[in-house]
Amino acid sequence: MIFDTHAHYEDAAFDSDREELLRRLPAAGIGAVMDVASSAETSRSAVRLAETVPYMAASVGAHPDSVGELSEQDMQEFAAIARSHPKVRAVGEIGLDYHWGRENADLQRRWFRRQLRLARELGLPVIIHSRDASQETFDILREEKAEENGGVIHCYSGSAELAAEYVRRGFCLGIGGVVTFKNAKTIKEVVRRIPLTSLVLETDCPYMAPVPHRGERNSSLNLPLVIQAIADLTGKDPGEIEETTWNNARRLYRIH
Ligand code: NI
Repeated sequence: MIFDTHAHYEDAAFDSDREELLRRLPAAGIGAVMDVASSAETSRSAVRLAETVPYMAASVGAHPDSVGELSEQDMQEFAAIARSHPKVRAVGEIGLDYHWGRENADLQRRWFRRQLRLARELGLPVIIHSRDASQETFDILREEKAEENGGVIHCYSGSAELAAEYVRRGFCLGIGGVVTFKNAKTIKEVVRRIPLTSLVLETDCPYMAPVPHRGERNSSLNLPLVIQAIADLTGKDPGEIEETTWNNARRLYRIH
């Protein structure tokens, strides 16, 4: 079975057919989905959705794009949600994103560290978003001892060398649609070099649809295309990739 370790099914892009789509996933081989929060609001809606879908788990946390609205009260609420809902299995997605500039870098760093501490308090793994901030993300994770609870570097986009450092510390790397893009040389090298036991599958849906659906609304139904791309790069059997990444994801989110 396939484990989608990073999806946003609470997103408005699924408003027209969410229930119907989620009903179809198990028959298509999707055995589990982590619905990832990205703001205070989606930390509430992701867990609400997960409670209606037997194979779905959820996270709490705020993406670097939404730290401007965060307060200490939100941290208390995240903690309360996580403690009262067994389906909450991670803190994320949290991290650093300098793609649109560094004007609020201090604010991003502050809330990244604060949420890493929250994850340690709660004993939960972290889901890391890092864009144009590879080394700084790594340094903060090390300083905050994030490897003690583990986690996943979602949509991994750093070098193969940094990937090896993450894996050495026990982190997983999230592999999604980007691996099917023709010009994505670095992630292809990462997939060839990193052991399959440290990779997990993800969609980031509704975003990041793999080729030949690039630009369209993504869903977990597209993950076989990602598996095939990994198979082409590693020479491994798609069945082995599916099974190994399934086990990796269950270990990551401690779902047994
Ligand atoms: Ni995401």
